[in-house]
Amino acid sequence: MKTHKIALIPGDGIGIPVSDAALAVAQKVAQGFKIEPTTFPWSCDYYLQNDQMMPEDGIETLRGFDAIFLGAVGWPAKVPDAVSLHGLLLPIRKAFVQYANIRPHRLLPGVTGPLRATGFDILCIRENTEGEYSGAGGRLHQGTKDEVAIQTGVFTRTGVERILRFAFEQARSRSGKLASVTKSNAQQHSMVFWDEMTQLVAVDYPDVTVTPYHVDAICARMVMNPESLDVIVASNLFGDILTDLGAAIQGGLGFAASANINPDRSAPSMFEPVHGSAPDIADHGVANPIAAIWSMAMLLEHLGETTASKRITDAVEATTARGIGCVQGEQSTDEITQTILAAL
Ligand code: NAD
Ligand code: IPM
Ligand code: MN
Repeated sequence: MKTHKIALIPGDGIGIPVSDAALAVAQKVAQGFKIEPTTFPWSCDYYLQNDQMMPEDGIETLRGFDAIFLGAVGWPAKVPDAVSLHGLLLPIRKAFVQYANIRPHRLLPGVTGPLRATGFDILCIRENTEGEYSGAGGRLHQGTKDEVAIQTGVFTRTGVERILRFAFEQARSRSGKLASVTKSNAQQHSMVFWDEMTQLVAVDYPDVTVTPYHVDAICARMVMNPESLDVIVASNLFGDILTDLGAAIQGGLGFAASANINPDRSAPSMFEPVHGSAPDIADHGVANPIAAIWSMAMLLEHLGETTASKRITDAVEATTARGIGCVQGEQSTDEITQTILAAL
């Protein structure tokens, strides 16, 4: 029987219970194939004991897996975010060239969300390895009145072209509509370059209608008229911000799933909810596990288990359609998970 080796990194806070929920669901749909999970305790607690977020050979260890599932990383009261995220989550995305971060935003049945909108179905494609997250920069004269901080966005032709091509392919397989997000009215180098690359790649996709939007304008559009959008492609930081907004309009961070994809399959891809460790609710047992469970469905789809993946999203939809998991805090993590498991 086919066996999928999954590296599980539950991480911090609600990352742990939502990972448990996602794994339980994956085990339940594993029919005709096997899931072989290996859990790694890499987290802020691990850092406090070991002075690093993962061992030196952490990346090489992960490379041997078919896919990675990550709950959430970060606990700013224990470890500065810039240390924890640059020690674990961000290096994995870069080392495994997971350049396409895919984040679906749509309302599940029974979920109202804060807008009066109903019919939107947005797929956000976020560049995931460079741009504003390149890490290029530094600090000078720290703590003095002459202090300087520089953080440079790095946009390469390879990096921009490949994410645009990926997005055009996605648009082609959906409605044929693509929104390319920049801020080229203010950022006259990198963002004008992105716009030019968009026009260049568009030549190969005459069946796709691409519309450029400034990031501020598309924020307003996502709230006022989300039905007018389908596939959105954006740089690393813009994509990060737009997908918390996407999560908000779909009912909250508890619903937003994501996949960090290495399209060439030269290294494992990583699946994780959009949300973080949610320290404010971490000990309350009320984290919505749907974002994590949906991310697990994306993982199984990536591994070719399309039937199992569809069974999960169907069970999630059946659950929310019954009013379970729709409103934050109405049911516990456990009750939502058990309802989804029962629907399976
Ligand atoms: P967050 O996403 O953890 O929380 C933002 C708000 O959304 C909080 O009020 C939280 O309670 C709520 N929320 C999030 N997920 C929820 C869920 N599943 N169910 C119900 N409510 C949910 O963002 P933050 O507070 O800015 O970050 C907390 C920590 O997580 C920080 O250390 C941050 O850097 C980190 N973080 C990690 C990831 C990741 O690992 N992928 C993503 C985002 C933030
Ligand atoms: C996300 C998160 C991360 C990001 C943080 C935790 C570094 O916000 O996955 O959306 O900005 O990519
Ligand atoms: Mn984010």
